[in-house]
Amino acid sequence: MSRADPPLLRDPGYPLLKRRILAATGLAYFQDKDEALAERLERRLAACGAAGCAAYLALLEADPARTGEWDALVGELTIGETFFFRYSQQFQALRDRLLPEAIARNAATRRLRLWSAGCATGAEAYSLAALVRAALGERLPEWRVTILGTDINRAFLAQARRGEFSEWALRDVAPADRAAVVEPAPGGWRVRPELRGMVEFRHHNLMDLTPEPAPDDRLADFDIILCRNVMIYFDQPTLAALAPKLAARLVGHGWLLIGHAEGGAPFQADFEPVLAPGAILYRRRQDHGTSRPAVAAAPPRHRPVAMSRPAPCRNGAAPARIRPPAPLPPDPVAFYQDALALRQAEQTEAAEQALRRAIYLDRGFAMAHLQLGDLLRRRGDLAGALKSFTNALRCLAEFGEDQPVPAGELNVAELRSLLAGQLRQLRA
Ligand SMILES: C[S@@+](CC[C@H](N)C(=O)[O-])C[C@H]1O[C@@H](n2cnc3c(N)ncnc32)[C@H](O)[C@@H]1O
Repeated sequence: MSRADPPLLRDPGYPLLKRRILAATGLAYFQDKDEALAERLERRLAACGAAGCAAYLALLEADPARTGEWDALVGELTIGETFFFRYSQQFQALRDRLLPEAIARNAATRRLRLWSAGCATGAEAYSLAALVRAALGERLPEWRVTILGTDINRAFLAQARRGEFSEWALRDVAPADRAAVVEPAPGGWRVRPELRGMVEFRHHNLMDLTPEPAPDDRLADFDIILCRNVMIYFDQPTLAALAPKLAARLVGHGWLLIGHAEGGAPFQADFEPVLAPGAILYRRRQDHGTSRPAVAAAPPRHRPVAMSRPAPCRNGAAPARIRPPAPLPPDPVAFYQDALALRQAEQTEAAEQALRRAIYLDRGFAMAHLQLGDLLRRRGDLAGALKSFTNALRCLAEFGEDQPVPAGELNVAELRSLLAGQLRQLRA
């Protein structure tokens, strides 16, 4: 143990406290991040005046409704990074395929149910509202639309209900398109009242999801569930347990959308991966819950790069139609996006090729170096991974800390710290 290690790590009650917290929240992310966990816990222990881990665990156990100290702790542990129309390719697929399909299927019931699970401060749920409003147009008042945003962090939900956002949360919405989604407010933007009225936010911990919904369960019969950038913090057993529970909350032909880094084996028994331009969508299998293929269904063999490449979705309110593919110069970002989809489909070799093409076209492409490093590390090529992570770090040299990383979801400071962590682990 180094001298810099937080003293809490020497508390004999720490391992049990850690186990309880990780089991209750699913945040296995902290499994190998004792320093980070202990630092956060030390803040909470000091705030409560708890003498040590055992005393703090007793405080948590005295809060069975998890509205008191649990809430404060969850506030320390969760990360609420989100923005409007994050992963534009998925919103494009929602707009062009998933929503029209659900609307046509539900024409008789005129009911549409969407769930943003792990919604943070609500940008994802409000983005859905903007798409649904545009998709239904004048028919909207005749439909019973439910857009539910849930999260484990009550402070995020309170912020979500206010519907107030900074410029940063709108970075993917072109200034000319913002009026359909937000209106100016002191210090930033507020979601338009008609969209705020379409979304409901509720507290919910995904670890509390039961295998099947109870008869009066409101978390049921969804046409589409978005659970994106939530499960990256969970471990494989948690994902394997969660996947069928999410499937059980969908209607027969329902869809699940997850983050780029979150797909893979745990989902393939309950969901069929479907390739869309730049994204993989997961359709609930018809036999979900009745059969579990021992071998995961093979993802489609063709490369998504062959499909039409849409213009970036900037705003759901006035959707531009996808135009037929025009001959384009080779685009490193397009190869990169294909690589992400291919990684989700576990087509690792094709993903590696696409990443190398992206890097060949743009040697300064930090996110492509990062993905290649991660791919090589998982394959056991540690020297290759070290080289790729170092290259990624070098690409960031010219950027300021607060700048967004091109084609990434992080800013430069976040990516630098992520890369430093990877390099530390590889050199250890
Ligand atoms: C990085 S944000 C993702 C927000 C949004 N889905 C997006 O992609 O922009 C992750 C969210 O998951 C929530 N979360 C983490 N563990 C959770 C759990 N066990 N149940 C529900 N939400 C959880 C966090 O509080 C946080 O708001």
